[in-house]
Amino acid sequence: MKKKILFVCLGNICRSPAAEEIFRQLAARRGLSECVEADSAGTYGGHAGELPDMRMREAAASRGYRLTHRSRQVAEEDFDRFDRIVVMDDRNYEALHRLAPSRELAAKIYRMTEFCRRHPDRTYVPDPYYEGRAGFYLVLDLLEDACEGLLDDLALE
Ligand code: 4NP
Repeated sequence: MKKKILFVCLGNICRSPAAEEIFRQLAARRGLSECVEADSAGTYGGHAGELPDMRMREAAASRGYRLTHRSRQVAEEDFDRFDRIVVMDDRNYEALHRLAPSRELAAKIYRMTEFCRRHPDRTYVPDPYYEGRAGFYLVLDLLEDACEGLLDDLALE
């Protein structure tokens, strides 16, 4: 059975679309493309339909990730469609817990930094939207680290 992962941030134009593509590529590198499915969404719907932020696209492209996702708002139905919902920060974590239809389904919510190994002190992936270029590269560092850890955690065959 495919493991379906939904990455969630605030606007779905910086962190989570990058997480989605990084996860997909790292899975492909392990020969696991057929075992996983990735998507992303935002708790805020104001950017719905937009491509990722140009600064995020440029930073990601410099590491070989091409971001083509179109922003969408997370929905209650996502709790049925996905096996895990992985959020970037506390604000997303709280918003997803409010949206979860049941306590059982809320158990699908994880924090991205739980899976980081090279950045053990990080408790969230910082919002780069109002930051300079370095903020976008820090996001990529954290997401690459966490996606490797998440793939290990999923224990795919
Ligand atoms: P993201 O970044 O949550 O990583 O996609 C943001 C994108 C847009 C806004 C905030 C954060 N915004 O305020 O519009």
